[in-house]
Amino acid sequence: MESKKIKWGILGTGRIAHVFATALRDTTNSELYAVGSRSVEKAKEFAMDYGIPKSYGSYEELVDDPQVDAIYVATPHHLHLENTLLALNHQKHVLCEKPLGVNEREVRLVIEKATANKLFLMEALWSRFLPNIMKTKELIESRAIGDIKLLTAYFAFKSNLGPAGRHFNKELCGGTVLDIGIYNIFLSQLLMGKPTSITAMAGLSDQGIDTTCSYTFKYDDETLAVMYSSFLVDSPIVAEIYGTTGKIMLEHRWFAPGKVKLIHTGGSEVIFEFEEKGNGYQYEAEEAARCILEGKTQSEMWSLNDSLELVKTMDTIRKECGIIYQGHDTSVTQ
Ligand SMILES: NC(=O)c1ccc[n+]([C@@H]2O[C@H](COP(=O)([O-])OP(=O)(O)OC[C@H]3O[C@@H](n4cnc5c(N)ncnc54)[C@H](OP(=O)(O)O)[C@@H]3O)[C@@H](O)[C@H]2O)c1
Repeated sequence: MESKKIKWGILGTGRIAHVFATALRDTTNSELYAVGSRSVEKAKEFAMDYGIPKSYGSYEELVDDPQVDAIYVATPHHLHLENTLLALNHQKHVLCEKPLGVNEREVRLVIEKATANKLFLMEALWSRFLPNIMKTKELIESRAIGDIKLLTAYFAFKSNLGPAGRHFNKELCGGTVLDIGIYNIFLSQLLMGKPTSITAMAGLSDQGIDTTCSYTFKYDDETLAVMYSSFLVDSPIVAEIYGTTGKIMLEHRWFAPGKVKLIHTGGSEVIFEFEEKGNGYQYEAEEAARCILEGKTQSEMWSLNDSLELVKTMDTIRKECGIIYQGHDTSVTQ
């Protein structure tokens, strides 16, 4: 007998929506059932591309479909709160693209609603579920490099989106911290927990958002995490973790599927390679669907509290750099 699969509805038909639709083909517990767009033509075209049974010309119609189990929110940052609440209010489970909300207040609001409605909610931090990141966490926990003393993580590339585009547009809550810096911060949080202090500095655009930002976290016992993100320059997107007995190196585009190198202080080296399956986004979809099928309201691998801690750190960085999103940031500016 075929086991139950989660019927997904994709909300928004942009770049990441295509990636997720492709990824669902590589899952065992999910099917792509519906798509919703602000434009009925775009919804139909997207549905044709992926063989999706239902397409809707509004997000409201999508979440109204009783057959849809879970919604994948694939809109720009400034809409995550509104779109996630829309889905939760229609009793749909939600996997929302990162960040789960623009600030702590927004993340708390969606968590409260999901909890009140007993629905599953997760931030789509796909890297958390990738084999290279899982292996890195496992190596740290097994003390393969002793005590961590320094983490460096960089995520910078020259964005070709114009001032109206998602990366640079303040109205859409653009800026590097929420968009790509979030991966650096996530890695430090996953491996090192909560810092005791944070310093940050940003280069701000005319619109007042960070086009380059650096942030350093301090922990007890002289340990630091040093990170930056930028939309202005191409730089190696690498992450390295240095411990008392060795180091772990994550290769270029470390947040995506890739190799992990473990180098012991004595010089011995182990390279971990992983079978390349799909585009890498299937792991987060599998995890969300597994949790929903098991009646869970959050994932233990990337919990709602993890998302809350992550956004609190990003709020601190933005406050330090003076990055304010009008209409969203009452909690940051107060
Ligand atoms: N996990 C990852 O690796 C990854 C990678 C890229 C992006 N993301 C995240 O995914 C989200 C979307 O990014 P994206 O690159 O897919 O963006 P995008 O290509 O601009 O697509 C966003 C979609 O949202 C919908 N939308 C609704 N209101 C909009 C508005 N006012 N302006 C623009 N679009 C609007 C549109 O779909 P309709 O017209 O069909 O309604 C649009 O196609 C972001 O939050 C980002 O952080 C994640």
